[in-house]
Amino acid sequence: MAARGGDQPVNESKTGGDTDRPIGIFDSGMGGLTVLQALADRLPAEDLIYFGDTARVPYGTKGAQAVRTFARQDAEFLLSLGVKMLVVACNTASAFALDYLTEVCPLPVLGVIAPGVATALEHTRGGRVGVIGTSGTIRSGQYQHGLAASIPEERIFARECPLFVPLVEEGLLDHPLTDLAVREYLTPLREARIDTLILGCTHYPVLKPAIARFMGTEVRLVDSADSLAAAAAHCLADRQLAHEPRERRGELTFYLSDIPWKFTEVGERFLGQPITDVTTVSLDELARERSDPGSVRKDTS
Ligand code: DGL
Repeated sequence: MAARGGDQPVNESKTGGDTDRPIGIFDSGMGGLTVLQALADRLPAEDLIYFGDTARVPYGTKGAQAVRTFARQDAEFLLSLGVKMLVVACNTASAFALDYLTEVCPLPVLGVIAPGVATALEHTRGGRVGVIGTSGTIRSGQYQHGLAASIPEERIFARECPLFVPLVEEGLLDHPLTDLAVREYLTPLREARIDTLILGCTHYPVLKPAIARFMGTEVRLVDSADSLAAAAAHCLADRQLAHEPRERRGELTFYLSDIPWKFTEVGERFLGQPITDVTTVSLDELARERSDPGSVRKDTS
């Protein structure tokens, strides 16, 4: 099924400038490393800077205003490093802050929701689509709204799955507790006979085996990370912002607002390789007013 209105919500009138500059990616924590990995695979020549707001994770249980403030500070921090494009890897931040960031940032901004919706619409055969995410993402209605542009609302089935994030962070990927949570949350979606399920959270791709076991192989699982990476490649090409191909891979640089106790294990779970060389950014630094021209314009409403 073709996507209607699945275009990237980037501000068409803006360009980011120099092709050599890095791409900035932020998430509420370390789950966005699944998106970083997809970008690194798709765009090997690009330098990527990742910021994870590990001091304030989770965003998924918080209200719109807090998430929007955090997202603005995360974006400002990355802009201060001279990025040419901003990727909002966090679904909850995409749900609550993407429109705002697109409006106020002086460069292209991509989120994960539109690419996930577009991929789901391409893949669904029967037009019965489910979406799962944090409480914030599902209650924002953004995925449902995107899908409803192309399929009737009674064929869209959304569920919040708040226990999935802590289960993944604890590494309980193949565990009876996770199977129980999967059954609890996904039974209504299985009963609704969906044919496609959007994994609308950075953490859910690592639960694919448990989810696929329960939903059955005929249900297509859509992970926004790959679709986002494809959209980022298009956007860079359109705006002549793509880095020249080169022999070596681009650099990956990591910033976190806190180093969690299980940092190494959790990071490896999402990135598939150990993370070394992390710089911490204090919450004071994040909240600092920035006056440089690359900064996010303040919302005065
Ligand atoms: N990154 C969040 C998301 O994709 C999940 C973790 C959180 O709740 O902050 O919605």
